[in-house]
Amino acid sequence: MLRIIIPVLLLISTVSALFTASELEVVKNLCNDILDRKPVLIAGFVRLIFHDCVGGCDGCVNLNLENWNGDRPNAGLATSISVLNGKYVELQQTVNISRADFWATCSVEALERARFLATNDMSKSLNISMLYGRADCILELTTTNADRFPNPRAGLAETLAWCNNTFNFNSTWCVAILGAHTLGQARPSASGFRGRWVADARHLNNAYFQDLRDKRWLQVNRKTVADPRWQFQARGQSMFMMLNADMCLLRDIQPDSAGRVVDPLDATPESSTKDDVETFADDNEEWIRVFKAAFKSIIETLPDGAAPLESI
Ligand SMILES: *[C@@H]1O[C@H](CO)[C@@H](O)[C@H](O)[C@H]1NC(C)=O
Ligand SMILES: *[C@@H]1O[C@H](CO)[C@@H](O)[C@H](O)[C@H]1NC(C)=O
Ligand SMILES: *[C@@H]1O[C@H](CO)[C@@H](O)[C@H](O)[C@H]1NC(C)=O
Ligand SMILES: *[C@@H]1O[C@H](CO)[C@@H](O)[C@H](O)[C@H]1NC(C)=O
Repeated sequence: MLRIIIPVLLLISTVSALFTASELEVVKNLCNDILDRKPVLIAGFVRLIFHDCVGGCDGCVNLNLENWNGDRPNAGLATSISVLNGKYVELQQTVNISRADFWATCSVEALERARFLATNDMSKSLNISMLYGRADCILELTTTNADRFPNPRAGLAETLAWCNNTFNFNSTWCVAILGAHTLGQARPSASGFRGRWVADARHLNNAYFQDLRDKRWLQVNRKTVADPRWQFQARGQSMFMMLNADMCLLRDIQPDSAGRVVDPLDATPESSTKDDVETFADDNEEWIRVFKAAFKSIIETLPDGAAPLESI
C-alpha cells in the first residue's frame, strides 16, 4: 500500500509541509515535560541522537545491533526510545513532525537544560539554530543495518579515524564531541563499563577535560561481565572513570585487542590531541563553541539521498 500512496502524495505536494514555529514550541514543551519528570534522560536523549545520526539521522536505532567485536553499542537506549515513542504517538495528532526531527529537537532541549544546570543563567543558551525535515527510516531496514559505532577500547588512531569516517570530523572536533561524556554514566547492564566521567553528570561543561587532565588515572578491569572491561579509574575515587577512547586524547596509549594498556600511564607519550584537551580544560566557553558546532553537524548528518534540511 505505502508504495502506491507515497508517489501520489509527492505529486500533489511538491513543497513539503513542515510544521510552524508555534507547533515547534509545542514539541519543545513536550520534550521539556519529559525532562522535568525524568532528568536522567538529559544524557539519554543526547546519546540517542548521536547513535541515531550514525549513518544519517532517521529516527531509528537498532537496539539489537552487534558490532564486529560482540558489543551491543545501542544497549541502554531503550528507555529513551520508549519514552519518546510514547509521546510521539500523542504529538502526531497535532504536529506533523518526523520522529527523527522530534528526537533531534529533544536532544537540543536536553543540551539546553544541561547548559542551564551548569550556568544557572538563561542568557547562556546554546541557541543552536536548528534545521528540520529529517525523514524517518523504513523500519524493515534498521534491523539489518550495518552501522558501526565507536570502539570504547580503541586508541587514538582508531578513534580519530572513526570520527573522520562517520562525521567527517577533524581531530579538534573529535576531541570536542567526546566532551559529551560529561553527561551521564556507563552502566554494566549496557556497555559492561561502570562509572561516570565527572561529578555533575547533568551539567554541560568542560569538567570532562579537567578531570581527564587533572585526576590520577589507573587502568583496572572492572570485571562486571565475563569479558574484560579495562577502564581507567581515578585514584581514590573509584566512581570516576575514563575509557580508552577518552584517555587516548591525552596519552598515546596502545591498547591490545581486549583494551588493556601495558605501560604505566605516566610513562606513556602524550597524544597529538593533548593541546585540544588542555584548551578545552582551560576554557569552557571555547569548548562550548566548538562542541556546539560539532553537535549541530552531527544532527544534520543525513542518509544518502535524503532531501536537504530546512529552517522553520
Ligand atoms: C507532513 O510532513 C511531510 C514531510 O514534510 C510532508 O511530506 C507531508 O505532506 C505532511 N503532511 C501533512 C498532512 O501536512
Ligand atoms: C540566537 O541566534 C539568533 C540567530 O542565530 C540571534 O538572532 C539571536 O539573537 C540569538 N539569541 C540569543 C539569546 O543568543
Ligand atoms: C576542524 O574542522 C572545523 C570544521 O570544519 C574547522 O572550523 C576547524 O578549523 C578545523 N580545525 C583544524 C585544526 O583543522
Ligand atoms: C579523513 O579521511 C579522508 C580519507 O581517508 C582523508 O582524505 C582526510 O584527509 C581525512 N580528514 C581528516 C580531517 O583527517
